[in-house]
Amino acid sequence: MTYAAITGWGACMPPAVLTNADLATFLDTSDDWIISRTGMKERRVSHVPAIELSTVAAARALACANLPADDVDLIIYGSCSYDEAVPNCASGVQLNLGATHAASMDVNTACTSFLYGLITATAMIRTGVVKNAVVIGVELITHYMDWSDRNVAVLFGDGAAAVVLQASEKESGVIGSIIGCNAEARPSLRVRGIGCGYAGRGITLGDTIWDFDGQVIFKRAVKAMSGASARVMQECGVTAGQIDLVVPHQANLRIIESVAKYAGIPMERVMLTVQKYGNMSAATVPVALVEALETGRVKPGSLLLMTGFGGGLTWASLLVRWGDRVTPLGATDRALPPCTKTALEMVNEIRAKQDPHGRSAAGLMSAEFTEKQPAG
Ligand code: ACO
Repeated sequence: MTYAAITGWGACMPPAVLTNADLATFLDTSDDWIISRTGMKERRVSHVPAIELSTVAAARALACANLPADDVDLIIYGSCSYDEAVPNCASGVQLNLGATHAASMDVNTACTSFLYGLITATAMIRTGVVKNAVVIGVELITHYMDWSDRNVAVLFGDGAAAVVLQASEKESGVIGSIIGCNAEARPSLRVRGIGCGYAGRGITLGDTIWDFDGQVIFKRAVKAMSGASARVMQECGVTAGQIDLVVPHQANLRIIESVAKYAGIPMERVMLTVQKYGNMSAATVPVALVEALETGRVKPGSLLLMTGFGGGLTWASLLVRWGDRVTPLGATDRALPPCTKTALEMVNEIRAKQDPHGRSAAGLMSAEFTEKQPAG
């Protein structure tokens, strides 16, 4: 049987750090509130486009696998942040890498985009469509954040990471997965202003309004990730005691603690990055995975549980059997250009272009946001 082993990994974190104190300079919020409700202390703000972040992450993953870009069969760009929708972003990464023989596609399931991409690439390798793939999880949320809305502005950050998958006869890579989507809850998380639905909605391209019902998302996230994790473990005949490390989506420390509790896995066996990077949507799981490898928390043969949820509300839980190698085969000197501004300076520049009072709240509420909000 053919498997899709993870043979390369690499992250690319923008250097500019936005602290809770920075946020409190323009929002009615505090370090105490953000830490106690979310576990977050800081997050990153990118000074480059998402394709550039992705290119560096993918180049590092390819060097780690010692796979030349010219040999890549497939690139999947998992994200809900697009530098452009047409042409797709995966093709931009392909061009930058010089991966001339690759096919390229974008996958958008919001925060689960990397996990959905990982499952898609695994299936394509296992069925012989391609022999290898680069799967990217990237997000550039700070650029379409509504910085006047404290309900969401404190939660998100930018980042990218990528993995390389290669066909293998040895049992490794994704060995089980459960995915789904609670579409009835889709109004609980919506970013208006990216997409095509502008007419009559009181917003224009580039002005964003976030519909965000934190408590609904919170409850549904815990339920979906816990249920999917229990199912995937049951279907693979795995007990909680056999999971070496959980690599969860990092939306809120309290959500992660609840999911770990339901799964019966102690927090010592859960990888956390939420405190320093916030919620990077599709980038959270691969960035946490790369950091787990770099800090020695993944051993040869480790069994990993990856779980996430995102807008849609999509959800996914995967079991990953790690292979023999936990160290990179090579490295690249590919890196981001220097950042000359602070994170707060960049956010203030974005804020200066936004005009919260210019947007018609009445128009927004009476327009297309007609789907009924679900109860918890
Ligand atoms: N600073 C200070 N106060 C705030 C802030 C803020 N940034 N945001 C909200 N508050 C206030 C509220 O207005 C409310 O005040 P009130 O009681 O006077 O009305 C109070 O704090 C409590 O608000 P709650 O919504 O009850 O706070 P809660 O404990 O539910 O935490 C949170 C809110 C952090 C958003 C939580 O619900 C959550 O994490 N939900 C899930 C979020 C999530 O998963 N997002 C990702 C979605 S999918 C994806 O990743 C794209």
